[in-house]
Amino acid sequence: MPDSRPVLIAPSILAADFSRLGDEIRAIDAAGADWIHLDVMDGHFVPNLTVGPSVVAALRPHTDKPFDAHLMVSPVDPLIEAFAAAGANRITVHPEAGPHIHRTLQHIRAAGMTAGVALNPGTPAKMLDYLWDLIDLVLVMSVNPGFGGQQFISGQLAKIRAIRKRADQHLNAGGAPVHIQVDGGINATNAAEAVAAGADVLVAGTAIFTGDPAAYGANISALRRPSGDRS
Ligand code: DX5
Ligand code: ZN
Repeated sequence: MPDSRPVLIAPSILAADFSRLGDEIRAIDAAGADWIHLDVMDGHFVPNLTVGPSVVAALRPHTDKPFDAHLMVSPVDPLIEAFAAAGANRITVHPEAGPHIHRTLQHIRAAGMTAGVALNPGTPAKMLDYLWDLIDLVLVMSVNPGFGGQQFISGQLAKIRAIRKRADQHLNAGGAPVHIQVDGGINATNAAEAVAAGADVLVAGTAIFTGDPAAYGANISALRRPSGDRS
């Protein structure tokens, strides 16, 4: 991956202490998080239930870092304005969650946020073919969505490489830059290969919210400069 792209770290609150979410947001902000990744789950699109717009609104005052909302919900369109009002800066949606991904991305941008597309492990990169002009981020799921603490699916590295190649073609043809974000099972051991494959944003929950909050900074740095890279 060209050195020009800095590696951004987006801690997922899914692994945070839900009894102290405001404190946890402040802790990862101070620890050097670039974005705050909000895993929103509805118990319908994925077999788990997490937070909604009211919790996002409650967390908004605790940091100025971008709120990167990953909506694992179906249908997603009825929730877009509420997340915008709650302070989300980006909404990333799954094409598997409904029939009108193109219109949903238009809806997110019309609500004043940037838009991303998240692809489940079984969804091919071809799904992006007619969406490049609407997105500034592709989220490659490296686990099946719903739970933190799962094993990284290394077969997704080939998908990351293919999407990075396509994103660079889009850029060279005059399109806007597109982030490639990887979400699921990311740790200090596999971060380097995800970045080498073309990812520039790493989501991590378990690898960051481990141990005392005083260790969050080192946990984030270990992902940004994986072991062995002391440059
Ligand atoms: C799955 C979630 C997780 C989470 C990261 O639906 O999206 O991927 O953000 O969890 P860890 O880093 O614990 O795998
Ligand atoms: Zn996520």
